Amino acid sequence: MTAKIYVANWKMNVPARESIEQYIGHLKKFRVPANTHIIIAPPFPYLPLVARLIKKSRLEIAAQNVHWETEGTFTGEVSAKMLQRFGVHFVIIGHSERRRDFYETDAIINRKLRIVVHTRLTPILCIGETAAQRKRGETRKIILTQLRRALQGIRNPRVIIAYEPVWAIGTGINAQPTQVQQVHVLIRSWLTRKYTKKNTIPILYGGSAAAHNSHSFMQQPDIDGLLVGGASLSSQQFRNIIQT
Ligand code: 13P
Repeated sequence: MTAKIYVANWKMNVPARESIEQYIGHLKKFRVPANTHIIIAPPFPYLPLVARLIKKSRLEIAAQNVHWETEGTFTGEVSAKMLQRFGVHFVIIGHSERRRDFYETDAIINRKLRIVVHTRLTPILCIGETAAQRKRGETRKIILTQLRRALQGIRNPRVIIAYEPVWAIGTGINAQPTQVQQVHVLIRSWLTRKYTKKNTIPILYGGSAAAHNSHSFMQQPDIDGLLVGGASLSSQQFRNIIQT
């Protein structure tokens, strides 16, 4: 059975109405079902604190970014090895905000994936089309191109894919669960061809996921979890998303 995965991507935010200690404390009280991962992705400076707070719990942490080299003259950057030393197991790569604002190309994303896999961390690879691309009927082409370029040369299938249609991120506009399911089937069949017939690579959905819609997404057979932005800034809302 594919694991269920819920990721709280805080982006460049901290929880709005509670301290980080309260937030983690609240989630720690929650009994995490078997074969379920609950992953918190805070900004870099909060990783050591979150790593300390989640000790002796089933919660896990992710970084939101990484550099493709192990060390060197890269002002402002953080390596996979450094993240690993702080107990990070997952790294978000290729988020559309980084593609858009930091000009991350598929080639850069591929280099980041390689170092993350090499360091034995698990990448959470984000892919997704823009509204204009969907309108032009290019969703399939964009998704397959992003997958192929990002995963070029990656033989180890220990990755997580997050389908995040750009038009649904932070907009309150949800993709329809059946629309998402269609894209997930496309991703799954590509992954099955590339890696393994017994496909256990989790595919998450992200884009205005919240407690009121998480159930309808999670009912789809090929949606294995959610990558949550805004609604993950409240421990109560994030818990509700997982519980429903
Ligand atoms: P929202 O949940 O705020 O739409 O953000 C989604 C996202 O980008 C998660 O990585």
